[in-house]
Amino acid sequence: MKLFIDSADPQEIAELAETGLVDGVTTNPSLAAKTGLDIFAALKTICDAVPGPISAEVLATDAAGMIAEGERYAKIARNITIKVPLTWDGLKACHALRDMGLMVNVTLCFSPVQAMMAAKAGASFISPFIGRLDDIGEDGMGLIADIRQIYDNYDFRTEILAASIRSVSHVREAALAGADVATLPPVIFRQLLSHPLTDKGLAAFLSDAKKAGLKIRDT
Ligand code: E4P
Repeated sequence: MKLFIDSADPQEIAELAETGLVDGVTTNPSLAAKTGLDIFAALKTICDAVPGPISAEVLATDAAGMIAEGERYAKIARNITIKVPLTWDGLKACHALRDMGLMVNVTLCFSPVQAMMAAKAGASFISPFIGRLDDIGEDGMGLIADIRQIYDNYDFRTEILAASIRSVSHVREAALAGADVATLPPVIFRQLLSHPLTDKGLAAFLSDAKKAGLKIRDT
């Protein structure tokens, strides 16, 4: 499963990229606004730090405007992915941007049929929002499973990008449901390796080695 970082903060992304385990980044207007940075400069830094797909979201709501904004974003770097909303205009723009050879992430997906339509429009990625569905008492993870089934039934190549992830359990469940990618807030990415028994086990190994005077290097 590919792991993306859901953030627009270049410094935080660069730190996490040092793990060698970051496959891409998703930004959105709310995340970009939070940084207070110039979005084009921030995206350029992010694209340099992470070689995988970097989603940059349009602000226009009409197809022509989305295409124009997408073309502008595409000049930043080769790994820019244009993020468009799941509307009729968004899917029209998706089709056109894909015809130009650009990657497109269709965002704000809340139903299996929406995801099918995005795949028909040639989306590179579909972003179902798990957490926001759970927030209103619906089954976010069920949506991932339904999309997986539909895409497999018809051999759609669109990658399922599990978004609005709120916990490490969400990552586990999305992986089990067959999501191709999960985009994680930095705080969740940092929690991925946490397990009390790992910490306890390591402490015991080191303490036993110290007591016995074990050494691997002379220094
Ligand atoms: C995905 O592309 C979105 O930026 C993000 O996952 C939304 O998450 P939220 O529901 O926590 O805002």
